[in-house]
Amino acid sequence: MSIDYGERIPNNVDLASNRTLQRALEQWQPAFLRWWQELGPTDFQSAEVYLRTAISVDAKGWAHYGHVRMPDYRWGIFLAQPEPDRRIGFGDDLGKPVWQQVPGEYRSTLRRLIVTQGDTEPASVEQQRLLGHSAPSLYDLRNLFQVNVEEGRHLWAMVYLLHAYFGRDGREEAEELLARHSGDADKPRILTTFNEPISDWLSFFMFTFFTDRDGKFQLKSLAESSFDPLSRTCRFMLTEEAHHMFVGDTGIARVVRRTLEVMRELGTEDPGAIRAAGAIDLPTVQRYLTFWFSSSLDLFGAESSTNAAAYFATGIKGRPDEQQRYADHVAREATYALEIPDGAKVRTTQTPLRNALNEIVRAAYVEDCAKGLARWNRLIEAAGQGFRFVLPSTRFRRTIGNWAGVPTDPAGTPIAREAYEARLGEWLPTADDRAFITSLMRRVVEPGKMAAWIAPPDKGIKERPVDYPYVRLA
Ligand SMILES: [Fe+2]
Ligand SMILES: [Fe+2]
Repeated sequence: MSIDYGERIPNNVDLASNRTLQRALEQWQPAFLRWWQELGPTDFQSAEVYLRTAISVDAKGWAHYGHVRMPDYRWGIFLAQPEPDRRIGFGDDLGKPVWQQVPGEYRSTLRRLIVTQGDTEPASVEQQRLLGHSAPSLYDLRNLFQVNVEEGRHLWAMVYLLHAYFGRDGREEAEELLARHSGDADKPRILTTFNEPISDWLSFFMFTFFTDRDGKFQLKSLAESSFDPLSRTCRFMLTEEAHHMFVGDTGIARVVRRTLEVMRELGTEDPGAIRAAGAIDLPTVQRYLTFWFSSSLDLFGAESSTNAAAYFATGIKGRPDEQQRYADHVAREATYALEIPDGAKVRTTQTPLRNALNEIVRAAYVEDCAKGLARWNRLIEAAGQGFRFVLPSTRFRRTIGNWAGVPTDPAGTPIAREAYEARLGEWLPTADDRAFITSLMRRVVEPGKMAAWIAPPDKGIKERPVDYPYVRLA
């Protein structure tokens, strides 16, 4: 199961033994590299970046670190080790052997799930392509590029599945994954959130914390899949994904730490004074958080979904951490309480649990997000400040599901539409907030130096010091 770097496409799937597949992927490779040059990070292609590259799929010591030019990154195909005698873990076929090939009746469903997941990977690289020019430090610049190359590798992971298991349709879908572009009027990316450009670093940290975390839960659900190659692919992607969320989590914590320092130095909570000192006031951070959290919630889909029920019944897509978290893996009789809007009130309705799976996964996601907020709030508390971040209700600002278009306040209480529209500026980033954040975005390129709005990290990458030259600009 070691990775063969002697091949044109590094892999641990013994690609050399399947000449047809190998040739097809070798033909897709130049198209991928062209896409990277055209729609990956603008400039910086000749910079040397301290990147990690997967060298094995073992949990320990799986990565190698060193300076590489991004176009020379060895994108490849890495699947987690097969589990001997793995069995279907949930749904109607619980306990039967998993599938090594795609069952004919699930072919189009599986293909659509893989394409939708695959589409988000290059989309996020496209969304972030301008950020390198305003990185607050070389450490952050390196982290951005690490995330970008790994999202590129996740695209490879999905393209491998399409080529290896879906024949001609799969090859066509792989081409389409490079033809759709984030924000393109004619050929946009599949999911709305992935068509918004990310042009400032506060949004980047929010994206990696909230939106990549949606990715984590989607991958965890697919890691449970009875289609074993998909499960193994997603399991290894999760190993890489953890760093992306670390970037968001610690990025936001560093913004908060810097703001608290300025608040202490100035002895004030006044947003105007904090901004004048070049830091980001906490209410502005809250508005960004409210924006990104609420837009990520829609990615889980409608609360009640017959598709979700069918994925579970057939074993295509399960619940995250199915074995550890749940006792009933069939869930045929169980029900789940959903809160739905009822005029100006909220009503509870019981729905078959299988139909409520999107909501169950969303609830697990909310719980995970709340841990980040608790960490940031502890920093604020320790600094003796009274401000606290709050996650808005999952009913707030939804465009999909039972609460789509229902005006509520961030606590989830239904309110009149006029009141909702009048108060949005209190809850979400305003044009003025965005202009202020944009004004802070100036690149800092001296090793160890940080922009004024963010504190340095506690430590560097892979035991390197914070002032290590993580990127050698050409
Ligand atoms: Fe990814
Ligand atoms: Fe990611």
